[in-house]
Amino acid sequence: MFNAEKFITQAVEQLKEQIQGKAIIAFSGGIDSAVAAVLVQKAIGEKLIAVHVDTGYMRKNESLSVKEFMDSLGLNYRFIDASEQYYAALSEVEDPEQKRKIIGEKFIRVFEQVAREENVDFLVQGTIAPDWIESGGELRDVIKSHHNVGGLPKDLKLTLVEPLRDLYKDEVRKIARVLKLSISERQPFPGPGLAIRVIGKATAERTEIVREACFIVESEIEKAVEQGKMELPWQYFAVLLPVSTVGVHGDCRAYGHTIAIRAVQSIDAMTCAYSHIPHEVLDKISTKITNALGDKVNRIVYDVTNKPPGTVEWE
Ligand code: XMP
Repeated sequence: MFNAEKFITQAVEQLKEQIQGKAIIAFSGGIDSAVAAVLVQKAIGEKLIAVHVDTGYMRKNESLSVKEFMDSLGLNYRFIDASEQYYAALSEVEDPEQKRKIIGEKFIRVFEQVAREENVDFLVQGTIAPDWIESGGELRDVIKSHHNVGGLPKDLKLTLVEPLRDLYKDEVRKIARVLKLSISERQPFPGPGLAIRVIGKATAERTEIVREACFIVESEIEKAVEQGKMELPWQYFAVLLPVSTVGVHGDCRAYGHTIAIRAVQSIDAMTCAYSHIPHEVLDKISTKITNALGDKVNRIVYDVTNKPPGTVEWE
C-alpha cells in the first residue's frame, strides 16, 4: 500500500537538500504539476516560482482557472501567453512525434528564459512514471515522447528536479487528497494539450473546433454522472480527425469535419478500457456538438478501442 503521508515527509526533506536557491516549476494546473509545486513550496517556500504557459492548446477557460488556482495556493507565479508562438511553430506539422518534440522543446526554452530573468538554476517538473516509461529512455521502445521527457534538449541549462518520477497517477492522486488540493479528482490532461487531439495540423482554427467539442464532451459526461446515469470515466474528451465527410446542413450539402469521442477507464494509464457510455448520453453529446459547430462538423464517432492496442490519446 502506498503511504502518501510518508512520501510527502520524505520528499520535502529530499527537496530541501536537492534545491540550493531558487527554482521554477512548469505549472499546467493538473494534478502532477500541482502536487509537485506544493511539495517544493513546502521545501523552499517563496523561492519557488510557478510558471504557467498558455500554449493556445489549453481547454476552454482553462488558463484563467489555473491563474485562480495558483492564487489560491499562495504561489509565487508568472503567467506567459505563448499561444501565437506555438501556433506558428505547429501549424504545418503533422507527425505526432515531431509535434510532441516541438512542444516539449518550446516549453523548455520558455522556462530557460524565465530562469535567466529570475536567476534560477533548478527546473521542477511533475513527471510521473508512465511519462518516462512510454518515452523509451533508450531502454524501451518509444510509445510516445511525453512532452516533459521527449522534448528535453541535450543542452538543458537547468538542473531537473522530478519529485514524482517513480509514482503512478493513482498514487499522485492520493497525495493530492492528503494535501487537500481542489483538483485531486480531476481527469488527467496531457502536457501537449489539445495539439495532440487535433490529428494532423494543429492550426488555431482547427484547435478552436476541438476546444469546443472537448468542452461539450466534458460537460455532458459530468452532467450524466451527476444524474446517476453513468460512472465517471478516468478520462473523457474529443478528438478532431483529419477526415471530411459529406452531410446535410439545413437543405444543403455539407462537407465537414469528423469528431471522435474518447472515454476510458484506467487505474494507472498504462492500460485502459473504453467506457460503456449510455447511448442516451452519446446522443446528447452528438447533437450538442453538431449544433454548436454547425457548418464545421457533421459527423461524430465513438472510439471503442482499449489500451493496448490503442493508447488513451490518439497521438
Ligand atoms: P497515452 O496516450 O500514452 O496516455 O495512453 C497515458 C496518459 O498520459 C497522458 N499523456 C500525457 N501526459 N504529457 C503528459 O503530462 C504528455 O506528453 C502526455 N501524453 C499522454 C494521457 O492523457 C493519459 O492520461
